[in-house]
Amino acid sequence: MPRTPYVAANWKMHKTVAETEAFLGELLPKLPANGVDVVVCPPYPSLARAVELCGERVAVAAQNMHEADSGAFTGEVSAPMLRELGVRAVVLGHSERRQHFGESDEALARKLPAALEAGLQPILCIGENEAQRDGGETEEVLTRQLDADLAELSDAHLEQLVIAYEPIWAIGTGRNATPEQAQEAIALIRQTVAFRNAEAEDAVRILYGGSVKPGNAAELIDQPDVDGALVGGASLDPGDFLPIVEAAARA
Ligand code: PGA
Repeated sequence: MPRTPYVAANWKMHKTVAETEAFLGELLPKLPANGVDVVVCPPYPSLARAVELCGERVAVAAQNMHEADSGAFTGEVSAPMLRELGVRAVVLGHSERRQHFGESDEALARKLPAALEAGLQPILCIGENEAQRDGGETEEVLTRQLDADLAELSDAHLEQLVIAYEPIWAIGTGRNATPEQAQEAIALIRQTVAFRNAEAEDAVRILYGGSVKPGNAAELIDQPDVDGALVGGASLDPGDFLPIVEAAARA
C-alpha cells in the first residue's frame, strides 16, 4: 500500500478566528479532492471553528497538549478536551516548544500514548540544530530523540504516528535542507522505526519541515522516503499553501 502524502499547516501563534475563517474560505474550495491528506494546526481559540469549516476533507490538529486527561495544570489543555472539539491530530515536540517552553523527551514519551489513547494522531517533530549537523551528530541526535520520545509507545502503535523531520537550522530561516539531506535523514528515521516494527516501516508517514515553499516543495516531497511536509511560514497564505498541497498530491 503506497503511503498517502500528508501536508500540514503549522500556523504557530498566527491567525485569529476571523483570519482562520478567511483562510479556509479561500483554501477549501480549491483543494484537490483526494490524493493528499491535508491538516491545519491553528492556535487553540480557532480549533472549534476550524473543525466546523473543514468537515471531513481537512483534519484539524492542535499544536501541543498535556499528557494528563485533567488536573491542576493551569494553562494546559488535554487530549480528551481536544477530541471533544473534533480535533483529530496533535503536533508534539516542535523545536519551538523544546527551545522556549522546556518540552522534554520524558514528557513527550508520556504524551504520545496519551494522544493515541484519546484518538488523536500524534505528529512528532524531531531534528538536529546547526552545531549538531556541522559536528556530524545528526544521526545520533535523531536516533536519541526517537528512542526517548517513543519509549512508552508500544511497537504495534508505531504505524499510527506521523513523524516530522525538522532540522532546526532550516525552520523559519529560508534555508531548507536539500532534497538529499531530507531523504537521508528521513530514511534513517524510517530505519529506526523498522527496528521496532517491520510493518510500520512502510506505513509510518514521515514529513520534512523547514522553509518549505511552493518553489521547493515538489523536489523535497518527490524523494522516495519523504511523505509530505510540515509547513510554517508558507502555510499562512492559501496562495502559498495550495501549490505545496498540489505538489504533494502529484508526488
Ligand atoms: P517554516 O516552519 O516552514 O516557517 O520554516 C516549519 C515549522 O516550524 O514547522
